[in-house]
Amino acid sequence: MKRIVIFASGNGSNAENLIKHFNSTKTAIVTQVLTNNPNAGVLNRAKNLNVSALSFNTIAFNKTNDVLNFLKTNNTDLIILAGFLWKFPIHIIEAYPNKIINIHPALLPKYGGKGMYGKHVHDAVLKNKEKETGITIHHVTKNYDEGEIIFQASCKINANDDAKAIAAKIHKLEMTHFPKVVDALLPKL
Ligand code: GAR
Repeated sequence: MKRIVIFASGNGSNAENLIKHFNSTKTAIVTQVLTNNPNAGVLNRAKNLNVSALSFNTIAFNKTNDVLNFLKTNNTDLIILAGFLWKFPIHIIEAYPNKIINIHPALLPKYGGKGMYGKHVHDAVLKNKEKETGITIHHVTKNYDEGEIIFQASCKINANDDAKAIAAKIHKLEMTHFPKVVDALLPKL
């Protein structure tokens, strides 16, 4: 069974959805949740589902091999970024080629890059009067949101949609598609 580690910085609804999905399919197991934010909601969500959840600091992540060694010791097959806001360091990317994926709440290459997360993305989409938006699941490379696209799904934006309405549509797409896209990747790992 493939072993998944999820990185998340906030609420953790995607992490929870993925944990529950793999608990029922048994095609993989989420062995660990890691966060840069010791107050992140994802910590409680993981613990409630009996998944080990730990926070780390920038030194362990960027300056030493602590997080990398932790991933190796864990026999990690796939790393999933689910609302993770720090840039991934090159030494971890190189250790896991094509085995780190991210979900982004827009149709990349539009509305990506540093600072483009959550509400900031939806505000920018609204400001530009886009008619549609969506989600992108992509490989992680050294630059934010630039890796090869694995999957996209879109939704319409109505004239009276605000950022909250868009966030709800994005959330629905993420809940529906993310676990299935990961499922399809598993045999290739
Ligand atoms: C998700 O919408 C995800 O696409 C987004 O953060 C949210 C996390 O929600 N990611 C980014 O904006 C990355 N640039 P969650 O914590 O409830 O899963």
